[in-house]
Amino acid sequence: MGFIRILIELSLICMNPPRMSCLLAVWLAVVLSGIQAVDRSNFKTCIQSSFCKRMRDVVPGHSPYRALLETLELSNTRLTLQLINDNNKVRLLLELYRLQGNMTRLKINELKPLRPRFEVPDVLIADPPTEPLSLVSQDEGGVVLSLGADARHLVVSARPFRLDIVEGPHVLLSVNSRGLLAFEHQRPRKDTGLPYLNNNYTDLSGIGQLTYSVCLYPCLWCDKEEDQADMWEETFKSHTDSKPNGPTAISMDFSLPGVEHVYGIPEHAENLRLKTTDGHDPYRLYNLDVFQYELYNPMALYGSVPVLLSHSTQRTMGIFWLNAAETWVDISSKAAENTDSVQAPSKVAQTDVRWISESGIIDVFIMLGPKPTDVFAQYASLTGTQSFPPLFALGYHQCRWNYKDQEDVRSVDQGFDDHDIPYDFIWLDIEHADGKRYFTWDPAHFSQPREMLQGLVDKRRKMVAIVDPHIKVDSGYRVHKEIRSKNLYVKNKDGGDYEGWCWPGTSGYPDFTNPEMRSWWASMFAYDQYEGSMENLYIWNDMNEPSVFNGPEVTMHKDALHGSWEHRDIHNLYGLYVVRREGQRRKSLGLDPIIEVIPSSLSLCCGTGAVWTGDNAAEWSHLKISIPMCLSLGLVGISFCGADVGGFFKSPSSELLVRWYQTGAYQPFFRAHAHLDTPRREPWLFGPENTALIREAVRQRYALLPYWYLLFYKAHGTGQPVMRPLWVEYPEDVTTFTIDDEYLLGRDLLVHPVTDEGSKEVTVYLPGTGGVSVKLYYYHYLYSQFFSSIPVFQRGGSIIPRKNRIRRSSSCMEKDPYTLYVALSPQGTAEGELYIDDGHTFNYEQKKQFVHRRFIFADSTLSSSNISPDSQFSTASWVERVLILGAHKPSSVTLKTSGGSVASLEFDFDEATSVLTVHKPGVNAGADWTLLFQW
Ligand SMILES: *[C@@H]1O[C@H](CO)[C@@H](O)[C@H](O)[C@H]1NC(C)=O
Ligand SMILES: *[C@@H]1O[C@H](CO)[C@@H](O)[C@H](O)[C@H]1NC(C)=O
Repeated sequence: MGFIRILIELSLICMNPPRMSCLLAVWLAVVLSGIQAVDRSNFKTCIQSSFCKRMRDVVPGHSPYRALLETLELSNTRLTLQLINDNNKVRLLLELYRLQGNMTRLKINELKPLRPRFEVPDVLIADPPTEPLSLVSQDEGGVVLSLGADARHLVVSARPFRLDIVEGPHVLLSVNSRGLLAFEHQRPRKDTGLPYLNNNYTDLSGIGQLTYSVCLYPCLWCDKEEDQADMWEETFKSHTDSKPNGPTAISMDFSLPGVEHVYGIPEHAENLRLKTTDGHDPYRLYNLDVFQYELYNPMALYGSVPVLLSHSTQRTMGIFWLNAAETWVDISSKAAENTDSVQAPSKVAQTDVRWISESGIIDVFIMLGPKPTDVFAQYASLTGTQSFPPLFALGYHQCRWNYKDQEDVRSVDQGFDDHDIPYDFIWLDIEHADGKRYFTWDPAHFSQPREMLQGLVDKRRKMVAIVDPHIKVDSGYRVHKEIRSKNLYVKNKDGGDYEGWCWPGTSGYPDFTNPEMRSWWASMFAYDQYEGSMENLYIWNDMNEPSVFNGPEVTMHKDALHGSWEHRDIHNLYGLYVVRREGQRRKSLGLDPIIEVIPSSLSLCCGTGAVWTGDNAAEWSHLKISIPMCLSLGLVGISFCGADVGGFFKSPSSELLVRWYQTGAYQPFFRAHAHLDTPRREPWLFGPENTALIREAVRQRYALLPYWYLLFYKAHGTGQPVMRPLWVEYPEDVTTFTIDDEYLLGRDLLVHPVTDEGSKEVTVYLPGTGGVSVKLYYYHYLYSQFFSSIPVFQRGGSIIPRKNRIRRSSSCMEKDPYTLYVALSPQGTAEGELYIDDGHTFNYEQKKQFVHRRFIFADSTLSSSNISPDSQFSTASWVERVLILGAHKPSSVTLKTSGGSVASLEFDFDEATSVLTVHKPGVNAGADWTLLFQW
């Protein structure tokens, strides 16, 4: 949750000592300033980030790096080789691994670093399994290694150093082919001499003892590489970064012959397909709490996932740059010259990518696909999959900064019943706590939290309360006292507790990189620790970039310390650690105390709860961009994404609000949220017609919950995204490569939100049909015609289960019957699945307590069979209706059950829509059965 810049700065003036008149002036200033777009000058451009500038100044084509082939060592699974920078004689160590599942890992570190460099822990789920790497040939020019199948090879060229991954005659990807590898070795500081006057420092050249003050050996880099400005200290606005370790940046280029489309590296407010950055800033990855972000630009936002995907009709690939420091990514495209070693076409498209990070090592995973599903599986095998949310988390969430008090909560909750709109969660923002002391309740407005929560329990609904990771410095606040006494706060560069200004005022920042901190934090969520909590209280967290209102770029100083590591090294990991609770699992209600985690700041990967796209605004453009922002996250393993419905800042028109509900109902995380200063906007405040439209949108969501749950079960199991770009399912249809105003849910639903004001029709691209465009009036399951909805198509050939009896929350619908929507393909076939479990515990995993069915329609027979015979779960739900879309009229429909009984069923046929409705099969949703159609 962002902040208004002017407030930040004035608040600082007011802090010491706080004066009421000053605080009033602050709020006045906020009101007067209104809400403006981001003040870009608060955030660095590449030129203002000295390492980015230095790395970007490296010119292509002059790589000083050479592979020292005589140092090559090859074990069964690993190749090591020294690289030397001929300008300064500093040596690097290259490690290469062939990983299972068509992946190659490449690591480069200093051969003899002055001090260890940071290697990102806790992101890979395991040491990736390797496969044998064997030498095919070697000469003075380089070596060729086999990557196994498909004549795939890794070619290491020595002078200059370069890597090519080739398959047969084709180069799939090249490393350092443009010569942009740069690796700033650690060095003593020259101007003060402090680090080295009294020290031997390590033999950087690999040649022998070398003391800096007396250069025994021609000390090339001492002479040639003068310290540049900002290498040892850097100032941005009023903040100075002390940079005690000096320059440590790294950079590497990757070339992708034949590739014109690249995606990923969220989070940016950007189209799905990434743009070239020639003449602009690179895409920046540095978790920041940006107030009112601008659209279509490469500025950093709340989270960072350093994974880039490339796609062409031939192949999908991925590059995973495992680094947690500030990172910039350049993308350029050009016609290639002789990239393909054999065929040598001169005008093949090519995309070049350059990664730049401030510290750490080069550690890259190259995922070779070849299909989109392969790349998703490959990335999932490294970092894990989307966590499997409880079913009710897929319902609708009502949030606002802030619901004022218990009575407010009660009346909003009642409003949903009065207007017959389902919802599962009501959320409380920072005002609910006592002076923003998280884990407490404001005594004036939320004095009876259990009573409030019990009111929701009675309606089978739930609450989410916020717990942010900045802790009010207040000796009377238990959380602060304990963290301080356990010495678990992040430290400033001088070793004291780091303090910054955030919502509660002066705040400490727990060092979540420390496992002791994480397990203590996890213990705070137990019912007896978190006072007033109950089994239907869940939490969200925000501000875990971390947001520091008076810090550089509204975040933590880079020279703050997490144990022996600088914040510089771990910045993009901090948010991930905040949500990682040792010994606590998220899906459960029954097994552990509480709690679903909903972070805003996603970092690097994996396994998170829901995320939202940050502080958007009530504007049509922000509705539109919610689609590519969530698609980009889905591509890199974060499926549970949504945008604040209605827009966080400003006030939506009723048309925008309705369109946003209609869109949000078809995005994975469906939550309305609004800024403190905005007028109230519960769904019934915009007149009965709009209330009816919103009701219909939310009800469509609830009807489809069985399908959503199935998609998340699969995303969790296989890493395939829930919300998918069209090209993922139609990888050879070039038209789809740039589409980001429509998308697929799973394989079977195509959604085209309406994101323009006053739209009377939209044009929908239907892939797989050779690109038919249809007008707005065909939508929603083809047969129903609501101008008031958005176009949603079910793929011909699919079967989708729905629950059409909508109740006040998903929990109330648990035992309700299913309706199957069978959309026939032109060949008259269809296929689909159904997944059922208890909706919230881990018993599906630990005890195999679930139902997983496959439905197949073929040869005039619809059958239900068990996909997972060793599972068992008894569901009370049954099949109440089957709709066959695109059918003709049968003469009879007969049901056969597994017990051998045979019954003739009633049906209706609608000529106008070609929809056949079969009534009351009445079979249990977990049973085997067949329906036979006589035409
Ligand atoms: C690896 O690539 C080959 C084609 O080159 C493909 O057939 C195979 O399915 C891929 N394996 C995985 C695990 O992605
Ligand atoms: C330099 O290193 C040598 C060998 O490691 C050690 O014996 C000597 O004491 C060191 N000198 C200083 C000034 O640290």
